[in-house]
Amino acid sequence: MKILPGPASKELGEKIAKLLGTETVPVFSKVFPDGEFYVRLEGSVEGETVAVVQTTGPPQDQRLIQLALIVDAVRRNNARRVIAVVPYLAYARQDKVFLKGEAVSIEAIARMLDAAGVDSLITVNIHEKNVLTKFPFPAKNLSAAPLLAGYFKQREFRDAFAIAPDKGAIEMVQEAAAVLGCEYGYLEKQRDRYTGLVSIKKKELDVKGKKAIIFDDIISTGGTIVVAANLLYELGAIEVYAACVHPLLIGEAEKRLREAGVKEIVGTDSIPSLVSKVSLAPLIAQALREL
Ligand code: R5P
Repeated sequence: MKILPGPASKELGEKIAKLLGTETVPVFSKVFPDGEFYVRLEGSVEGETVAVVQTTGPPQDQRLIQLALIVDAVRRNNARRVIAVVPYLAYARQDKVFLKGEAVSIEAIARMLDAAGVDSLITVNIHEKNVLTKFPFPAKNLSAAPLLAGYFKQREFRDAFAIAPDKGAIEMVQEAAAVLGCEYGYLEKQRDRYTGLVSIKKKELDVKGKKAIIFDDIISTGGTIVVAANLLYELGAIEVYAACVHPLLIGEAEKRLREAGVKEIVGTDSIPSLVSKVSLAPLIAQALREL
């Protein structure tokens, strides 16, 4: 197997290759004056299984096109098999028709990757993993929740309480609580489909005097965590922390979280950022080993 670190996940791809003790295939990429991308492989992939590591965080559309072009180049240079390793799979939140007339964006993206030549896909904490069964190729979802929880465990978090901001994140929180050996619970979040505004139903939770750690797949605008943190402080939590797999942190998200009293934000290198304190490399390397 060879690893091809795409322009969006260069460091992560190299870390994975190092853990696997395998060669990387360099790729040259540039942008034409009109904004179009160009890619060229600078190593051989002939007869190889190639794992293309490319996350698709902002700017999502550009990252997706780069991925499709790289996969096409790998395919036409006679690779045996192409595995797309896409830690953050863009458009996964639009996984059904919520309002009449909408697209199911993630299904369109999967068809695009299939047409480019992807044989199988590995992603991490996709918003709703059931959607992967609708992909035209085999797709696997990994969970980084134990790694994120491990970060807190190493810091000897006592009196922790793991919390999901909505029922969708409950599996993540159960995995995290198992590592931390702590209690867990979930909040009931609602998002207005037209305004995007988030509200959380008040409920009793045994967080009084505890350090609450909110686990979620994505922090985008920070709206979800801010509302959850406010409620947790209201319920008596002494400190609130936020852990996420994909720290998109759009605009002033980080500032909003700090202003809401979030003590620390912990993310992974799914999206390289200042809060990417946990690497996905061991998780992905293990998944590739098991293929
Ligand atoms: C949605 O349900 C996701 O799990 C996240 O909670 C959401 O994407 C976070 O977005 P934001 O940070 O904008 O509230």
